[in-house]
Amino acid sequence: MDRAKNPFAPGAGLQPPELAGRDHLISEATIDFERVLRGRAAKSMMLLGLRGVGKTVLLNRLLDIADKKKFKTAKIEAPEGGALPALLAPELRRILYALDLKSAAGNSMRVAVTTLRNFAAAFKLTIGEFEFGIEAAPGTADTGDLEQDLPDLLVAIAEAAAERKTAIGLFIDEVQYLSPKELAALVVACHEIAQKGLPFIFIGAGLPQIAALAGNAKSYAERLFSYPEIGPLPPEDAKQALIKPARQERVEFAADALGAILKITERYPYFLQEWGFHVWNHAPRTPITKRDVDAASPEIISHLDKNFFKVRFDRLTALQQKYLRAMAELGPGPHKTGDIAATLGVDASAVATVRAQLISKGMVWSQRHGETGFTVPLFDGFMKRVMPKLLPHKPKSRGGKSETS
Ligand SMILES: Nc1ncnc2c1ncn2[C@@H]1O[C@H](COP(=O)(O)OP(=O)(O)OP(=O)(O)O)[C@@H](O)[C@H]1O
Ligand SMILES: [Mg+2]
Repeated sequence: MDRAKNPFAPGAGLQPPELAGRDHLISEATIDFERVLRGRAAKSMMLLGLRGVGKTVLLNRLLDIADKKKFKTAKIEAPEGGALPALLAPELRRILYALDLKSAAGNSMRVAVTTLRNFAAAFKLTIGEFEFGIEAAPGTADTGDLEQDLPDLLVAIAEAAAERKTAIGLFIDEVQYLSPKELAALVVACHEIAQKGLPFIFIGAGLPQIAALAGNAKSYAERLFSYPEIGPLPPEDAKQALIKPARQERVEFAADALGAILKITERYPYFLQEWGFHVWNHAPRTPITKRDVDAASPEIISHLDKNFFKVRFDRLTALQQKYLRAMAELGPGPHKTGDIAATLGVDASAVATVRAQLISKGMVWSQRHGETGFTVPLFDGFMKRVMPKLLPHKPKSRGGKSETS
């Protein structure tokens, strides 16, 4: 088929031609935005899901809706290894400008500007001068302790938004990379803002372990946020994700071709885009047949192996790779942590550190205590292809401690 007309969009954060299966969530969130604008309570939310399920595109869609509703918004991607204040401060400065800072600044606006200045000074950030003089007033957001200062700052900005009869939307992607202290500060800030009934909503997105991380940071986080699970698409939506964009170009999929793609991709959005894209290029004519899918699939898998899966694999130590290979031996998962260790021929304690490292790298997560699952869908199959043989783990004794990396 004509490559130039190929509608599919495999990638990270690329808006798909058809954002399938998320209408309900989008309309619920839209109602929440309306409520916030009307001064009603609405829960902030964390979109949780595995790699490639479409969290970023959903976050961007919600951001877009909030912007259209005249929220003042900021969006950042949490960096691995800390630096939340440095990323957030310039965005919040931009928000203050967007709140029409210069015209007849009210009291809350002044306080917000001062608070942001204090915050920047406390965390040694350069955010650029404000073009008008506002005298320093110590006492808010100036302790250097993020858990005190971030809530002070976000409350001050939400109060300024209330004064301007608008609302703030804070969007953070890859929340699992926030340090525990940053996450705690964010949770406390959302809690304080909720108690004050200020016009503010936080929408986060990231790997499923965030729910537990936020709960560990502050136990009330469980009630403070809703945690919509973003998963593989239901079969009908997965089909629509393929059919609709193709139909716009007058291309059809045969029913068994769709069935084959749904099966091999397990209806994960990223893989649906990859298969849609490559099968389109491979098929000589419409309708796209199961034969086209079968003929293109080995090449698609090898393309994913060399790119999508491999970049993740290459970031791992030999022992981390071995651990994932043992998980793959047991199937897609999640698996009992003890069973994984047993597959490696050791006790769970001998590989506890490597498991913790894999969690912090975002490669595995734990849904329930004592369970470990892949965060990347279909990773088990890749591990078996890239490491055909499962080797037992032989910890070297080092002063009684086992070697873990
Ligand atoms: N609802 C959907 N329908 C069809 N395609 C989708 C949908 N959601 C996402 N996609 C496609 O899936 C791919 C991955 O989307 P996205 O980058 O948002 O995933 P993610 O969950 O943020 O992944 P990661 O955890 O790696 O950041 C993109 O190619 C996107 O176009
Ligand atoms: Mg993403």
